Amino acid sequence: MKCLGIDIGGSGIKGAVVDVASGELVSERLRVPTPDPSTPAAVAAAVAELVSQFDWQGPIGCGFPAIIRNGVAKSAANIDAGWIDTDVGMLLKQSTGCPCLVINDADAAGLAEMRFGSGKGRNGTVIVITIGTGLGSAFFNDGVLFPNTELGHLRLKTGPAERYASAAVRKKEDLSWKAWSKRLNKFFAQVERLFSPELIIIGGGISRKHDKFFSYLDIRAELLPAQLRNQAGIVGAACRAAERLK
Ligand code: BGC
Repeated sequence: MKCLGIDIGGSGIKGAVVDVASGELVSERLRVPTPDPSTPAAVAAAVAELVSQFDWQGPIGCGFPAIIRNGVAKSAANIDAGWIDTDVGMLLKQSTGCPCLVINDADAAGLAEMRFGSGKGRNGTVIVITIGTGLGSAFFNDGVLFPNTELGHLRLKTGPAERYASAAVRKKEDLSWKAWSKRLNKFFAQVERLFSPELIIIGGGISRKHDKFFSYLDIRAELLPAQLRNQAGIVGAACRAAERLK
């Protein structure tokens, strides 16, 4: 079965058609910039524009950068505040004309890594951290997702961890890999103290550059880069939609 996966991020909205049995992309990966301001109406129009480029009429799975409960956004850290309490699934269904299943973007990426990537076949506690504009998290025990964990909002001395250690902060503050890794270590120390994961998987675009910073990370758990890189969100959302929109 094929499904269109969409990943709504702080800077871009990416999509591709996914073969949900293999987790492979069976179309080109297309991207449109996230509108600024990223209001519900503007983003819904941008998603509709992306969907029309695929000439797609089937189910859509969408990863969204917020707490998502039954399709409704319950937070808005890196997206316009107007999304709070918006039924994202309903809005995207209206704008695209396709049935649409929405989950948190990091949960989507985590599901794909557990099914097809670095977490495949792994039991125990596995935490996937996506590093991008924010810090996303997906939490698994024996392969089962505990959704909306939001570990990027753990408090470090200076405030939410993602304001201190995301990839966007590294760029903005022009931090060396070593200096940035020091910050990540503070975040991971909290994560390990609280949850004792056996495996931590690092996702997001930065996972491509893992050789630049993994050696600086001081983590007790096994540490692996995401295998699906930043396609994981597209793949996981598509797979979830294929299961839930039957
Ligand atoms: C949001 C999360 C999201 C993460 C990555 C955070 O700011 O609160 O819901 O998963 O960014 O996009």
